[in-house]
Amino acid sequence: MFLGLDLGTSGLRALLAAPDGMVIASAEANYDVSRPAPGWSEQDPFDWVAACKAVIAELKSVVPQQMAQVQGLAISGHMHGATLLDEAGSVLRPCILWNDTRSAVEAADLDAEPAFRAISGNIVFPGFTAPKLVWVAKHEPDIFARTAKVLLPKDYLGWYLTNRYVSDMSDSAGTSWMDVGARAWSDRLLAASGMRRDQMPELVEGSDVIGPVTPLRSAELGLPDGVLVMGGGGDNAVAACGIGALAEGDGFVSLGTSGVLLAARDGFSPDAASAVHSFCHAVPGRWYQMGVILSATDSLNWLSGVVGASPADLTKALGGTVKDPGPLRFLPYLSGERTPHNDADVRGAFVGVDVGMTRDDLTRAVIEGVSFALRDSLEALRSTGANPERLIAIGGGVQSTYWVELLANVLGLPLDLPEQGEFGAAMGAARLAACGVTGADPAALMTKPQIAKTIHPDPARRAVFVQAYQAYASSYSTLKAMP
Ligand code: XUL
Repeated sequence: MFLGLDLGTSGLRALLAAPDGMVIASAEANYDVSRPAPGWSEQDPFDWVAACKAVIAELKSVVPQQMAQVQGLAISGHMHGATLLDEAGSVLRPCILWNDTRSAVEAADLDAEPAFRAISGNIVFPGFTAPKLVWVAKHEPDIFARTAKVLLPKDYLGWYLTNRYVSDMSDSAGTSWMDVGARAWSDRLLAASGMRRDQMPELVEGSDVIGPVTPLRSAELGLPDGVLVMGGGGDNAVAACGIGALAEGDGFVSLGTSGVLLAARDGFSPDAASAVHSFCHAVPGRWYQMGVILSATDSLNWLSGVVGASPADLTKALGGTVKDPGPLRFLPYLSGERTPHNDADVRGAFVGVDVGMTRDDLTRAVIEGVSFALRDSLEALRSTGANPERLIAIGGGVQSTYWVELLANVLGLPLDLPEQGEFGAAMGAARLAACGVTGADPAALMTKPQIAKTIHPDPARRAVFVQAYQAYASSYSTLKAMP
């Protein structure tokens, strides 16, 4: 049996899978994001450990016999977070998360040094790890001076389990400290941001073995002796493993807290200026590219909080027939934007509010705006040579059929809905665990899922959606020009 852990922004999901990939059981525990100042986003690493204990306890109570047969586990994690540990392994401050934009100035400074784009293959975005450490050095010098190790969120959990400081290629590619083409730490980039190699964890591939869960943690969690922990990966790479998106032409669109449009690539062909992310895949010898928007379901969650109705009720109220984009326009830059704008300062907007508009008009505008932002990412990806002809749709937002149909029309691509779409990254993690324990070839094991339904764009409405997208795309410069 294999365990896949998906350390997400809002909670930890665990999936127990049989060697043939059959799902035995899953469990989930939630935790919070704290926002102590505008643009800040933090999490307490102890909440991850508590959630890990809770999901394993739940699985043990539901399927005790199968849990006694676990041989390996791997963790998928939200990327870029900076978890700072002192010499003794104690957490020095809350983890600064991927959607925290406090280090925009430090990111721009690093990004102005050409070595970063040239070696890491990516813009130094404010959400990435390196600028966070420059911010800590500047604003919390005592903590910076005591920082012995910097771990990505899932690697903190890996350290808790194995007592080893190890990361994998796909997650580390998002730090701005890695030579992403060479799959190695770059001493030059580390030095350029005031860091040392000894502060970095050891690097392995996502399907490589880190080591066994320590006897202490096995006893604490009630896991069998000697469960092996694999390298795991960043959430998008691992989700791609979960749906078999490994080779050129494969890809997905994800409506999660952030929105992602990902294309697997056979080689490493970065184009930093496009604001497309070019990262190592979680399996050896492969890379992928993606456009990332910071507020996808986060935008709908925001509206839900404001109007006091659940996101599901908001989208349900729209009915079953997708309308043409309306006159109300929403720009989903609630936390700034990555692809294609690389703009931490911009904020969202509604444009064209009319006195007769209702809650449904706001809901439609929000999901249309998020969909258009993903079209921006598709255009950026195309400019790098990636050209997906269809995409698998995953993430919490795909529970709304209205939104998926709308998105298919906005992207102009067929969207495949997997039968078990909700398991994305947890399934990918279980597959990485299986590869590590059995030595199976990832390409053979990471097959594509059964597709429950394909949503095709309506060719008769193509022109309407293209026109609406163009209007959306031109709004950013107007927003920027506002004082
Ligand atoms: C990717 C990114 C997000 C997070 C959270 O670059 O920042 O997708 O990994 O899901």
